[in-house]
Amino acid sequence: MNNFDFRNPTRLVFGKGSIARLGELVPADRRIMLTFGGGSVKQNGVYDQVRKALGERATVEFWGIEPNPSVETLRKAVTLGREQQTDFLLAVGGGSVIDGTKLISAGLLYNGDPWELVLKGTADKTVPLGTVLTLPATGSEMNNGAVISRHETQEKYPFFSNYPVFSILDPETTFTLPPRQIACGLADTFVHVMEQYMTVPGVSRLMDRWAEGILSTLIEIAPRIREDGLNYDLMADFMLSATMGLNGFIAMGVPEDWTTHMIGHELTALHGLTHGATLAIVYPGTLRALREQKREKLLQYGQRVWNMTKGTEKERIDRAIEKTEEFFRSLGLATRLGEAGIGEETVREIERRFEERGVAFGEGGNVTGKTAAAILRNCR
Ligand code: NZQ
Ligand code: ZN
Repeated sequence: MNNFDFRNPTRLVFGKGSIARLGELVPADRRIMLTFGGGSVKQNGVYDQVRKALGERATVEFWGIEPNPSVETLRKAVTLGREQQTDFLLAVGGGSVIDGTKLISAGLLYNGDPWELVLKGTADKTVPLGTVLTLPATGSEMNNGAVISRHETQEKYPFFSNYPVFSILDPETTFTLPPRQIACGLADTFVHVMEQYMTVPGVSRLMDRWAEGILSTLIEIAPRIREDGLNYDLMADFMLSATMGLNGFIAMGVPEDWTTHMIGHELTALHGLTHGATLAIVYPGTLRALREQKREKLLQYGQRVWNMTKGTEKERIDRAIEKTEEFFRSLGLATRLGEAGIGEETVREIERRFEERGVAFGEGGNVTGKTAAAILRNCR
């Protein structure tokens, strides 16, 4: 196991009716800016619950943080927050609202364009942030990451700043999610775990078993959620799986991959594809292209997660990759570039961008533009 230094300061407040506790969680003397997406929280009653819990507190609202939040929108929120002397942020929504609010929280204390912070990749000073999560997927509610887009240049990059001081997770808020958002959230969670697990074997038995536990949970609940998205216990398991999938708990002392995410962000930046949908396409291609490098872990995954014990090594690896792709298809997601209307031109553009940036992603540091192109050609 590699050395590590673990800290996760986010207070997780979980369960039915928890939004009512906002009043006790947000410090009484703060000037709060509430941030929202496009309005789903007005339709499902989450907005009313938040307003009721905050009572007469001094607040200002910022609406319109879009899926794949853009710096163009977030600059407006920073301007509003400065005018209002905001010193506490409350993000209410999915990963995009939370991610966008992380950039606002850094932008409020930065003397320059927030995009500079994204390019720098980190922020030192931030305004405290709490969240009310309505979509299980990103883990943003309990990590310090955010992924920000810039429309004018079709770019999308991760950026690291503050952990939320608290996050409220009420599974009932997920009852209004459209089936496609649920599918993309399940795929995103699955791939988050794989990015931290599907590397090399034998580094940490504990991390492996925790990761396999989340994967097995997702495989068990996904078909049942598709049948009954209003089942509280299923959605509670999904919500906690998503949080645990990307809050650092399964990454202690182990190598990580993140190749698929970096390629997926390019597909979103260039084609506007939903994040989880990009991963369902790219991940099977990553496994096909890097099957030799990931051979031993693929065998372990096949055996422990998919109960494969029979056949030659080659057959078991083939089957493990097929099972992964079938899982995404069972969610109703496309798994090939052609199905999303994406062709060779995009493959070449992503190769060009990665070469220009000099990237070397993956646990082996070997995913350059050329390897990324090979992965994408395995997704056709
Ligand atoms: O905008 P509103 O009206 O709220 O509607 C949203 C949005 O249209 C809707 N929605 C959310 N909760 C709902 C709901 N609709 C009905 N009922 C509810 N309860 O769902 C749509 C998608 O929301 P979004 O926040 O974009 O989805 P998600 O949570 O999947 O976030 C995706 C973003 O997170 C980034 C992605 O790249 C993408 O930009 N990621 C962030 C990560 C992180 N911070 O650690 C890691 C991830 O790998 C990911 O890259
Ligand atoms: Zn993701």
